[in-house]
Amino acid sequence: MSKRTFYTFAVLVFVLAVVIPWLAFRGSGDANTGAMKVPQHLKAGQALFETNCGTCHTLYSAGTDGDYGPDLDELLAPTGPVEPEDTKTIKATEQRVINAQKQGVDSNTPGRMPPGILNETQQKEVAEFVAATAGEG
Ligand code: HEC
Repeated sequence: MSKRTFYTFAVLVFVLAVVIPWLAFRGSGDANTGAMKVPQHLKAGQALFETNCGTCHTLYSAGTDGDYGPDLDELLAPTGPVEPEDTKTIKATEQRVINAQKQGVDSNTPGRMPPGILNETQQKEVAEFVAATAGEG
């Protein structure tokens, strides 16, 4: 291989292996899942949501697009502008998400969303994550 060919090849490999993936994933949070970057204390809830809720629910911040259940960005987005310190609104949403997980939801067909998919600690983590991020993006 001539030196020139070698350099051309090296540049090509660099573009394919480094530049393109970087362009594709830059700014979209976790490169593997398309999930949004969230503060450390919400990460456990985010991961739990991706695995246990994402197949049925769309939530931008978790990078999921399930469509068996309602789109949680639409359902739970705060209606007015919410400041991070508006804990009343966030707490209410959190409680709603906890209730849904505890009791399950089946307004039309029993068992559509089964209760108790996760244990109580996990339910709380997921609820905190959903309440803090629903409607973003
Ligand atoms: C098997 C699919 C499925 C899974 C898994 C699932 N859900 Fe659901 N979820 C649904 C369906 C379907 C509904 C709507 C049921 C209805 O209205 O009859 C729903 C409704 C909801 C609601 C709305 C309740 C309300 O107050 O209106 C919330 C919140 C929710 N799910 C959160 C979650 C969370 C959090 C998880 C993960 C722990 C989860 N879901 C896992 C199917 C699922």
